[in-house]
Amino acid sequence: MSSADLRRRRGDYGFDGDFRLVPAGGVATIFGVIWAALAAFTGFEIAAGRPVWAVIAGLITVWLSLAIVSYVFTTRVGKFEVWARLLGEFGLRGDEDLLDLGCGRGAVLLAAAELLPEGRAVGVDLWRADQSGNAPEATLRNAEREGVAARVELHSGDMTSLPFDDRSFDVVVSSIAIHNIPTAAGRQAAIDEAVRVLRPGGRILIADLARTDAYLARLRFHGLTGTGRRNLGWRFWWGGPWAPTHVVTARAKQVVPAGGEPTP
Ligand SMILES: C[S@@+](CC[C@H](N)C(=O)[O-])C[C@H]1O[C@@H](n2cnc3c(N)ncnc32)[C@H](O)[C@@H]1O
Repeated sequence: MSSADLRRRRGDYGFDGDFRLVPAGGVATIFGVIWAALAAFTGFEIAAGRPVWAVIAGLITVWLSLAIVSYVFTTRVGKFEVWARLLGEFGLRGDEDLLDLGCGRGAVLLAAAELLPEGRAVGVDLWRADQSGNAPEATLRNAEREGVAARVELHSGDMTSLPFDDRSFDVVVSSIAIHNIPTAAGRQAAIDEAVRVLRPGGRILIADLARTDAYLARLRFHGLTGTGRRNLGWRFWWGGPWAPTHVVTARAKQVVPAGGEPTP
């Protein structure tokens, strides 16, 4: 499965954002009205021969246009392209048990499932309004459309207290989900849980738009190795370079039996 194949999605993955108070359609309308008012004001100031205000309003309009384009690109296209590359580079064997924390409508979960013909892709979520149309039914529908439903499992649960046994996954991934937990203690609990359910030698891949330095510190606190953090570039900007996404990677230590080789 090439990363080009992974980018060709057949499901409907909605829009990312905080839609608790105002639904996605309302947010789009508010930004549309602000943009139209700014554009109209710019035109009015040009017509009135007031170049200073025309330039200021024009620049704000251009800035807002670019920020909206960047945001919509990231949530509809860029996120999928970057995760296709990350998963492609990850070198999955195809028989792993993978857990996605805050899987939402399955953007990452289902792309991973395509790379796990002999494995299992498990998603856990509280189905909050952090994504438009977020619901387990939407994710299951997407799994059917992507042809991976047979190896996908969904659980309704809180990632700060996972409903899984210790050491039950080879890979734990998460995409723009952990920052939604409102407290530092809660985010730390999510990282602790990711480490708890990871098998010896298992790997973690977390992409998020905030707090990734704290995730990295907590993974190091637990003694994970090969830890790193990097910026995922313009395809994963949430409006501009001031709101990038970083990925954190880590590996759980292998268990070395006395006098033996590490477990594979
Ligand atoms: C912005 S969406 C991202 C969804 C998906 N990972 C993606 O990249 O498309 C964040 C997700 O995290 C989930 N979430 C937030 N807090 C959570 C928690 N404490 N436990 C489980 N899921 C949570 C939300 O319900 C939502 O589905």
